[in-house]
Amino acid sequence: MTATLEPRAIGRDLARRDGAAKVRGTAVYADETPVADPLFCRIVQATVARGRVTEVDTADAAALDGVVTVLTSTDAERLASTDDAELAVLQGTEVGFRGQIVAAVLAETDEVAREAVDLVRVTYAAEEHDARLAADRDDLYTPESVNPTYPPDTHEGDMAAAMAEAPMTLEATYTTPMHHNNPMEPHATTALWDASGAGHLTLWDSTQGVHPVRQTVTQIFALEPEQVRVICPFVGGGFGSKGTPHANVIMAALAARAVPGRPVRFALTRQQMFSLAGYRTPTIQRMQLAAERDGRLRGIAIDVVEQTSRIKEFAEQTGVPTRNMYAASNRRTTHRLAALDVPVPSWMRAPGECPGMFGPEVAMDELAAALGIDPVELRIRNEPEVDPETGKPFSSRNLVACLREGAERFGWAGRDHRPGVRLEDGWWVGTGVAASVYPTMRMPKSTATVTYDAGRFVGRIGAADLGTGAWTVLPQITADALGVPVEDVDVLIGDTDHPEASVAGGSSGTTTWGSALVEAVREFRDKYGDHPHDGDAASGSVNPNAAEEDYAMSAFGAQFAEVRVHADTGEVRVPRLHGVFAAGRIVNPRLARSQFLGGMTMGLGMALHEQSLLDPRTGHVVNHDLAEYHVPANADVDDLQAHWIDEDDPYVNAMGSKGIGEIGIVGTAAAVANAAWHATGVRVRDLPVTLDRVLPAR
Ligand code: MOS
Repeated sequence: MTATLEPRAIGRDLARRDGAAKVRGTAVYADETPVADPLFCRIVQATVARGRVTEVDTADAAALDGVVTVLTSTDAERLASTDDAELAVLQGTEVGFRGQIVAAVLAETDEVAREAVDLVRVTYAAEEHDARLAADRDDLYTPESVNPTYPPDTHEGDMAAAMAEAPMTLEATYTTPMHHNNPMEPHATTALWDASGAGHLTLWDSTQGVHPVRQTVTQIFALEPEQVRVICPFVGGGFGSKGTPHANVIMAALAARAVPGRPVRFALTRQQMFSLAGYRTPTIQRMQLAAERDGRLRGIAIDVVEQTSRIKEFAEQTGVPTRNMYAASNRRTTHRLAALDVPVPSWMRAPGECPGMFGPEVAMDELAAALGIDPVELRIRNEPEVDPETGKPFSSRNLVACLREGAERFGWAGRDHRPGVRLEDGWWVGTGVAASVYPTMRMPKSTATVTYDAGRFVGRIGAADLGTGAWTVLPQITADALGVPVEDVDVLIGDTDHPEASVAGGSSGTTTWGSALVEAVREFRDKYGDHPHDGDAASGSVNPNAAEEDYAMSAFGAQFAEVRVHADTGEVRVPRLHGVFAAGRIVNPRLARSQFLGGMTMGLGMALHEQSLLDPRTGHVVNHDLAEYHVPANADVDDLQAHWIDEDDPYVNAMGSKGIGEIGIVGTAAAVANAAWHATGVRVRDLPVTLDRVLPAR
């Protein structure tokens, strides 16, 4: 048992501490870092998807007034480590995907740099590339593990026998497209090597983790941690794309290395973010359900095919949520990858869980319809008593409570479960439900310090706030651990000069950093009691959670959607989207609501709009800007509500909190697709649910 905090500041509806600075425009982002006399970096990107650069003619670019240098793979500095092919910027002539960096220009102004890159002429020896994902490829392979360290395949019981013998079976294939994270602030870095020859590098980088960036950069440039400082007070969104350093960070450091003493700014353009900053792999999900007539599952299986890049593997854990969701004695989950000549996929909000709950939750809806069972009731009937995967009890699991409260709030009772029966003013109207899940994760490493000075307590930890609220909730947690008013506490984050912190990823930030701060406070109070003096200081680190040995830990939720499909045009609208979540103790209701609503809005984008269209003939994402890669705007978001049920979980951490950054996106797309079926009778198994997919079948 670890729940020792008496919640006084925790649970309070406090405003964002960084809110005023952001609204007033005084919050400084990486590319705006005030530095003296910066140079500007712009890049040239490969126009072939596979092959070799045979010549880079830099003469015209170098001759342009204001150009300081042009970097190519022939003259760029050799990096100490090129093990990570995504990060081995300008280290060779081989092209692994279209959009890879093949040259860079440094100039006195951004305009000159931009003009100069257009003057660089690159000649390629193109090779035949392969960028077509399909489930029938003969070169699919099984990765050693899926993100982060799950086994790729699991088998329990005999799924084939369950499919052969169960009174009701369902088999269908679902797909989700390639998605790009698209935070508002593009990836950006200001980089400065000192001129003294000591080899000290400062990076002001837009990142979800200053220490992870430092670790990567020290490896690649063979530096000691003391030689690198990474600073990031504010992030204009990341959604996972800033969770691991991408080529842009190395490019910035490499460019600045050419001009010691002068800072260099390098920001990706929106279009460049479609090849250099990670993305969500497209997925092909073959689902099997074997059920009794009363809906209880005898078996559940998901076989996933997805892509990775030929130059670096990222294996998304799409099949993993199926392992924990429903009671079924026969289960199979598998992952197969196609290694293609495409950019490197990576984390995007709820990697695995988000796309991996689309197939299963639509399949459950199809099963409910086939059996004539209320889809809410079907899920309740399949609620497991323990985690089906490990046999451990859940530290807390309130999916059923979320379904019941959601049904109540949404007005689910009395729903006519037949599809395509409600036509109102020329619109087909339907409702749908889906479940959400996200694991409660704690990272193994994070340290915090607490000091007391002149009546104030100051916590320090290199945490990141990518809009999630760390600037605000970490003082709340620290104040409760100290037993002092939150107004007397500051927690400073976003700098490697603070103690080492884990990445803001896997919805683990509050759990991990909060636990480190609680440990630091324990140490502080042990040393100084409750009457500290100026200068008193203590530090503490996050410990492994022993309760994880005995309990499975996840947050759950239920999403309810109303969909209207225009009978003539097929236009799809979502007038209502209500989510109910069970995510432990909510540390700050105002900020939590914003996380849930943001996740659901992103899920709405996944349901109706988002798809990166990679043309296999060129390996190029053709809709590589926000004019053609559509995300929800205000007019698309109508009655969007997030609620939660109070959950008292003494096992997860001292705060009793579970992660909330990602669960809001999970299940949304399935709820919308299920509602679209209920409205029209057309079952869309391939996202997004666009008008061409719902109209022709009517
Ligand atoms: Mo989140 S995609 O784990 O940053």
